[in-house]
This record gives sequence, structure tokens and C-alpha cells, in this order.
Amino acid sequence: MNRRRFLKTVGGSGLVLAATVGGLSQCDQMPAEAVQAWQGPSTNTSDREWILSHALLAPNPHNMQSWIADLREEGVITLSVDNDRLLPDTDPFSRQITIGQGTFLEILALAARQKGYDADIKLYPDGTPAENVLKVGDKPVARIALKPAPGIEPDRLFKQILNRRSNKDSYQPRALSNADRQQLEKMPLANDQWLGFANQEQDVAPLRLMAQKAMILEMETPRTLKESIDRTRIGADEIRTHRDGIDLHGPLFWWLKAFGQMTPEKAMTPGTMAYQGGIDYALGWARDTYSMGWLVTPDNSRLSQVTAGRSYVRLNLLATALGVAMHPVSQILQEYPEMSELQSAFNKHLKIKPAEKVQMFFRIGYQAPTAPSPRRNLADIVRE
Ligand SMILES: Cc1cc2nc3c(=O)[nH]c(=O)nc-3n(C[C@H](O)[C@H](O)[C@H](O)COP(=O)(O)O)c2cc1C
Repeated sequence: MNRRRFLKTVGGSGLVLAATVGGLSQCDQMPAEAVQAWQGPSTNTSDREWILSHALLAPNPHNMQSWIADLREEGVITLSVDNDRLLPDTDPFSRQITIGQGTFLEILALAARQKGYDADIKLYPDGTPAENVLKVGDKPVARIALKPAPGIEPDRLFKQILNRRSNKDSYQPRALSNADRQQLEKMPLANDQWLGFANQEQDVAPLRLMAQKAMILEMETPRTLKESIDRTRIGADEIRTHRDGIDLHGPLFWWLKAFGQMTPEKAMTPGTMAYQGGIDYALGWARDTYSMGWLVTPDNSRLSQVTAGRSYVRLNLLATALGVAMHPVSQILQEYPEMSELQSAFNKHLKIKPAEKVQMFFRIGYQAPTAPSPRRNLADIVRE
């Protein structure tokens, strides 16, 4: 959920005024420890920990951070999906969770290079999970052997890792410039992947509408709405406890919570401020979107999903270097049955071939950098 948008939506309630009058403008700040990871690792960590401290800053669905990094083999990191951190309702085949493994692996590889290692990544060393299962965590996603490579050239994208964000704010009213689009289009892609962009109003308008319909559908489908609500952390205390999911904090949320207006039950109940705030957000972000992009793979295999994650995060890092904001809006890509009709229309509109899959669909444009999202401690994902 976008904080700024939500504030606009429910701001008319008088509670904003109450928050200000109450002198609480500094209350309910993001807990420092929840975003400490964005300061970068300390220097007295082992190389593998240093590398993983960067990797856990990867973008990932609902910020579930569904990663387990096994360090029991010397010089190796074995990455698996955490089966306890899936999104069964909106991501029933863990396609997005798998993309989030690719984003992790790419950042891991960038950080390894920076430390003088070539990350030799073997995907699915013990076999690839079927494409129609939820629980993909029973076998590793990757075995990464860190091969010392003195003199290996660093990747220029490395220095964007700490600055990268999924920027969910309103964007400035201007399309992606041709110069920036060309830079992004020049980025090498793997395995017949391709990127599309819509920049002209007549091309963006139908996509916005479809994305918006998909978001409303997700919110009007009780179990998919509940999945997000269950993963929403409201206020500094909940954020401090979980350090994952969708984080909402600040004086307004503090007051809404204090007045009993931000309970999971309220968020599930049409007519309440919490429910309406969510719907209005869904309707609202599209108004502030002036360009959109999509990343397509030739098929929907697990390998393509991982590779899509690798390309997506490189694009996000390159965009960061260019001062371009990105924000995935994945609802229309999701595989639960209620979404299939909208998704077919979307694929037809974009002329996606039957075997192809749009893996990422995102807003893209310009806005000042946004605050970082929480991350858990490295120790939470490491097994030693
Ligand atoms: C596969 C994938 C799908 C995502 N889908 C959405 C989405 O539909 N809506 C959204 O607001 N963010 C989406 N995100 C962005 C995540 O919410 C974001 O990466 C996460 O909250 C961590 O924030 P950060 O990217 O700023 O570090 C997606 C990210 C990934 C990798």
C-alpha cells in the first residue's frame, strides 16, 4: 500500500488534523533497525555474509523475503525458497516468489563480483519444481559456488543496490523520456526475453484501465484481499516485529489504529475507511502513471521465471542510475481463476504469443526517491 496515496485518500477524515494538533507528527516513524540493512553491511562480516547482506535488499513480492541461504558447504551458498513465506492466493504457483529468487541471485552475483568472486550459479541442481505447484521450496533454487577471481571487473550496477527502490508513490506528470527508454532498451536481456514500453497517452490509457480493474478485482475477492491484509504491518511496533510485508506507518496510521479504524476486520469490510482507502488507492495510482513497461519471457518455465527476476532487478538498478522510478503492478499477471479473463484480454492487447508469459508489468516514470522498505536480519535467512 502506498502511504502517500493512502494519506490523501483518508486524509479528509479529520484524523490528519487530529494527528497534527496532537503534536504527533514525529510519532510512529519507521523503526531504525527495520531499515538498517540499507546502510550496507559492516566491514567485519565474512565475505559470504557481506554478499548476502546485499542480496537480501532484492525486490520481492509483498516483501515476503522468502529466501533461505544455506552456508554449511564451504565457499558455497545454497539458496532455497522458504515454504513458510509464500502467497498461496495471489501467487498459487509461486511464479512471483520464483522471480524473487532471480532478483536475489542477480544482486548476489553483483556483490560477489564486487568482492572479487565469480559467482558460479547452478540453477535447480537437484531438479526443477513443476510449474503448477505452490510449494517450490523442497529442493534448492541454486547452488552458488564463489570462485575467487582476482582482478574481476566490478559491475557498474553494484553501486545502485542501496539506492534501488520499488517506488509506489504518485509519479510526476511526464512520460519516460526517449533517452531514458533507449538506455533501458539497450540493456542486454537473456534467452529471448523482451521488454515493452507504453509512453504515449493513447497506449498507456488502456493498460492503466486494465491494471486498475485487476487491482479492484483482487480487492473485491475476499481471499486475495485477506492475503494482503494479513501481510500488512501497521505502525512501528508491527513493523519492528515482522520487518516484512506491506508497511504502513506515521501519525495518521497511528491515530487510525488508536481509534480502532485500522483493524484487519475493518479493512475487509466495505464502507469502512480502511477498506475504502485501499480501493481508492487502487483507483488512484493509475492517475499518476504516465508510462508503463513489461518484461516477457518465451515460456513460463521455472528457469524463465528466475531469469526474469535477474533481468528485472538489473533494469530496476539501471533505472535507479538514470533517476527513473519503477513500481511493479502484478495483479493482472496473477494465476488465480478469477483473474484469467482480464489476463487474456491483457495478453491479447499486448500481442503476447500463446507460449510467452508477461513476468513483470510495472509503472515507470519520475519521482523523488522514496523511503526504503524493511528487511529482516541476515541471520533470519541464513542456515549454518
Ligand atoms: C515478482 C514481484 C512482484 C511484485 N508485485 C508488486 C505489486 O503488484 N505491487 C506492488 O506494490 N509491489 C510489487 N512488487 C514490489 C515489492 O512490493 C517490493 O519489491 C517489496 O515491497 C520490497 O520493496 P523494495 O523493492 O523497495 O525493496 C513486486 C516485486 C516483485 C519482485
